[in-house]
Amino acid sequence: MEVITRPDAAHAVALVARLLESRVTTNPRCVLGLATGRTMERVYAQLVARGINFSQCKSFNLDEYVGLAPAHTGLYRHYMQQHFFSKIDIEPRNTHLPDGCADDLQRAASDYEALIASSGGIDVQLLGIGVAGHIGFNEPLSSIMSRTRAKALTPTTRLQNAEMFGGNVDDVPSRALTMGVGTILEAKELILLATGAVKAEIVAKAVEGPITSMVSASAIQLHPNCKVIVDRAAAAQLQGREYYDFVFANEPEWAEYR
Ligand code: F6R
Repeated sequence: MEVITRPDAAHAVALVARLLESRVTTNPRCVLGLATGRTMERVYAQLVARGINFSQCKSFNLDEYVGLAPAHTGLYRHYMQQHFFSKIDIEPRNTHLPDGCADDLQRAASDYEALIASSGGIDVQLLGIGVAGHIGFNEPLSSIMSRTRAKALTPTTRLQNAEMFGGNVDDVPSRALTMGVGTILEAKELILLATGAVKAEIVAKAVEGPITSMVSASAIQLHPNCKVIVDRAAAAQLQGREYYDFVFANEPEWAEYR
């Protein structure tokens, strides 16, 4: 794992956008794993501004709410349309999210896994992190081997996401269909982005704490090709910051990004 600290959120977001652009430029048929949430809105704005050619890419989102009507604006499908898909040249039929509206959620989950596999797997998976340590909607106690499935959301997560439901926590769905931790770990590369002081404690737990299903994001320590990009505020509780900065300042692979 590498941890890159940038001076502020704008620089952290810009670095993530540059990394993704380089992956798509190198491999125009790249299979992208995408995330939602407030942190990612700025990443999508940057990717759009860069005018990247996504016409041959496929995408798979991490998660989708369960129980909302297909036209509900709280759906992550709507979020992705609004912030990204409608603004780039990706083929709509190549954009995928778990089907949280399906009658048979178990079937929808296994179909999603099969679709990822038949697309050759995810080349690069973008991740945010929840304050309780989830990646996707893998709430505490999600098995590190877990696959796509329906998961009950914690009160903390529902509160965190209430803003997208007019500020009313009761309107936030109580379940979501999410890629499992095991599904996420199969992506060829992981890029986790966290910004702001509110994420400092959980970033330190995920990166430097024990690997535990109580903090799903700690499973990224098992991945051989994982980058964690943080701003200074989110990096504040990392013990090894000095060394991580040294790696970024000295390793040749980072020369063009310094
Ligand atoms: C959403 C997702 C979540 C978010 C996380 C952070 O698709 O996967 O894990 O990335 O909840 O959300 P924000 O950026 O709103 O703090």
